[in-house]
Amino acid sequence: MTTDRRTAPAADPVDLGRQGFGAMRLRPNGSADPDRDPSRIVDAVLDGGVRMIDTADAYRNEELVGRAIAHRREEVVLASKFGLVWHGAVAGGFDVRADAGYVRQACDASLRRLRVERIDLYYLHHRSDTVPVEETVHAMAGLLAEGKIGAIGLSNVTAEDLRRAHAVHPVAALQEQWSLSDRAVESTLVRTAAELGVPIVAHSPTGHGALHGAAGDDDHREGTAVLREIAAARAASVGQIALAWVHGRGPAHGVEVVPLPGTTRVSHARSNVAAAAIRLTDAELARLTDVWSPNAP
Ligand SMILES: NC(=O)c1ccc[n+]([C@@H]2O[C@H](COP(=O)([O-])OP(=O)(O)OC[C@H]3O[C@@H](n4cnc5c(N)ncnc54)[C@H](OP(=O)(O)O)[C@@H]3O)[C@@H](O)[C@H]2O)c1
Repeated sequence: MTTDRRTAPAADPVDLGRQGFGAMRLRPNGSADPDRDPSRIVDAVLDGGVRMIDTADAYRNEELVGRAIAHRREEVVLASKFGLVWHGAVAGGFDVRADAGYVRQACDASLRRLRVERIDLYYLHHRSDTVPVEETVHAMAGLLAEGKIGAIGLSNVTAEDLRRAHAVHPVAALQEQWSLSDRAVESTLVRTAAELGVPIVAHSPTGHGALHGAAGDDDHREGTAVLREIAAARAASVGQIALAWVHGRGPAHGVEVVPLPGTTRVSHARSNVAAAAIRLTDAELARLTDVWSPNAP
């Protein structure tokens, strides 16, 4: 029996797991070092129990990610994003495309590059100043009804965007930056996400890697000392404790939080995955939260 994709039922809530893997930094392996092999990195995170693998058309590595997951496609919750278009004329500049026609075009191109029939979680990568989010999400809901995507996500949006989008179609995940050293989301989006029951995928959960080193710079001398103390007591690395804090921060806000660390090394991938098993105590969470507070002296 063939299934008419246009009448396929809405997908179940996407299973994000306790931790995802951010593939943004993966590039074809130019070295002979097996620790740097992107396929081995993907295998390592899947072997460790991670299911959600996150990329974006803007990362320009969807072909690579598609090849790396191909032999284990059924194990993967594949996430990608559209809408961020690098602007060649301006270094570091980008345009946002979120109009309905572009949504469809971008999705088809990502499906081709990833060599999959469905993107399990498809995000708008960045809010648009010109296209109402209702138009974008309506177009995404069309892709969902056709079976081209499994769930709708948003990234880099405002609380109002989230609310308006959610009124058009339930949003399955919100991807925003969240780490000990960047907690802006706590004073903006988290309350709305909690109210609507939207899980938060916390990108750059170690401050783009700074928290793995926890070098004890002047800005965070005390916070670094506490991270180190807790890490030593638990025979963990400071990066693992920083990841465990992101996960453990959810209950305080009444929201599910899924850290999304990235790496280009198998060894680091294994270490990050292992952090998902660390449950910080309330006292440890509170100490870290206080000492890393943006208002801490
Ligand atoms: N939605 C958005 O706008 C947005 C923006 C940025 C990122 N993201 C997503 O979030 C993911 C993670 O972001 P990110 O890579 O910036 O942040 P991150 O995970 O906080 O940091 C990655 C950095 O930490 C290093 N690192 C990772 N594991 C390590 C370990 N165990 N020990 C020591 N160093 C380690 C990595 O270097 P090595 O490679 O040497 O391990 C890399 O330099 C991305 O892949 C992407 O999927 C989304």
